[in-house]
Amino acid sequence: MQFMHNLSERYDKFKVFRYNVKRSKDIRNDYSYTENGLTFKRGEIKYLKAIQNLHLELFRQPLYPFLVWLYRFRMRELVSVVVDENDNLIAYDLFMFQPVEKDLKVIHEIYVGVRHKYQDKGIGVKLRQYSSQCYDEGYLDGISTLADFDNIKALRTAQKAGFAITKTSAKPLAHYLFKHLTRRY
Ligand SMILES: CC(C)(COP(=O)(O)OP(=O)(O)OC[C@H]1O[C@@H](n2cnc3c(N)ncnc32)[C@H](O)[C@@H]1OP(=O)(O)O)[C@@H](O)C(=O)NCCC(=O)NCCS
Repeated sequence: MQFMHNLSERYDKFKVFRYNVKRSKDIRNDYSYTENGLTFKRGEIKYLKAIQNLHLELFRQPLYPFLVWLYRFRMRELVSVVVDENDNLIAYDLFMFQPVEKDLKVIHEIYVGVRHKYQDKGIGVKLRQYSSQCYDEGYLDGISTLADFDNIKALRTAQKAGFAITKTSAKPLAHYLFKHLTRRY
């Protein structure tokens, strides 16, 4: 019974993976900028390990294996990073298409993280604004994200980057926020 459950769970994750690979092709503008020695740019496969390590440090749990697989294939379309002058990872912003939003032209920001030493310097807000620009003027109507009720910094950074609370998510218990984009096609 447990075996069948595990198998069906794996199949579901595989379906989400496949769905994301399909939807995320050429989804994002190729745009980057550097400010005060920090470069905001699209993800590259060489940062995946560093993202996994930083994620473990910040969230105390590993990145879901299906997301690791997804980003192996679609790092450039679904991930933004901030790196320093020596190409060390400072922050990351991860996106995916959620099956529950499949009828909408909406991408979901699933995790954003800034290395502890660099927090509270405005990088979280700038990174979220940067990612929004990368998805603007394209195929999408907007970006959704969640902020846990007790994660005030996640909420404030999202609001400062132009997201607004539109509803409450029951599972997990969190604010659901949305940022409108201009769709061109
Ligand atoms: C959430 C996170 C990405 C924010 O990044 P950051 O670079 O530290 O955030 P910023 O410096 O851009 O902005 C933080 C804002 O929150 C505000 N803030 C922080 N603590 C606050 C509090 N207790 N009450 C009100 N506002 C608060 C700050 O004042 C700042 O706003 P300001 O610029 O107007 O002063 C970062 O803290 C992080 O990586 N946290 C761990 C992972 C996480 O929880 N990610 C979010 C869920 S996916």
